[in-house]
Amino acid sequence: MSGNKTLTMIKPFAVQKAYIGPILAKINEAGFKIIAMKYLQLSLEQAKSFYEVHKERPFYNDLVTFMSSGPIIAAILEKDNAVEEYRKLIGATDPAKSAQGTIRALYGTSLEKNAVHGSDSDENAIIESDFFFSKIERLF
Ligand code: CMP
Repeated sequence: MSGNKTLTMIKPFAVQKAYIGPILAKINEAGFKIIAMKYLQLSLEQAKSFYEVHKERPFYNDLVTFMSSGPIIAAILEKDNAVEEYRKLIGATDPAKSAQGTIRALYGTSLEKNAVHGSDSDENAIIESDFFFSKIERLF
């Protein structure tokens, strides 16, 4: 059975462009419940740790530098089949290849500045949620 939680981040560029409100509205309109949320800036070390799975990839250094360059929103979202449903809502990793109306198509400008992150599996949703939130910072 698939899980009902996923972890999202609204990335620095989207925060700077004042897209927090429109992106959260899309998330709510799509039927996700926000069960934890915080506004913070990752240190370079924290960004490296979050994206450690990508550390061998050529884009890793640029990605972690970008992700620690300004404030972000991190949130745990709840809905049946959350990981897959959220990935449908945000669209493909590359905004240029995202379906019309998806969050990345609307608010992303490049592979790096693709507006939001979404967990890619139930297992990673748990790991990523635990990265940002303690038990008392979540609704259950
Ligand atoms: P995200 O969902 O946050 O997960 C990993 C991130 O790496 C991804 O979104 C993109 O922002 C970034 N990414 C993935 N592939 C590439 C790539 N080929 N070049 C640059 N950045 C990438």
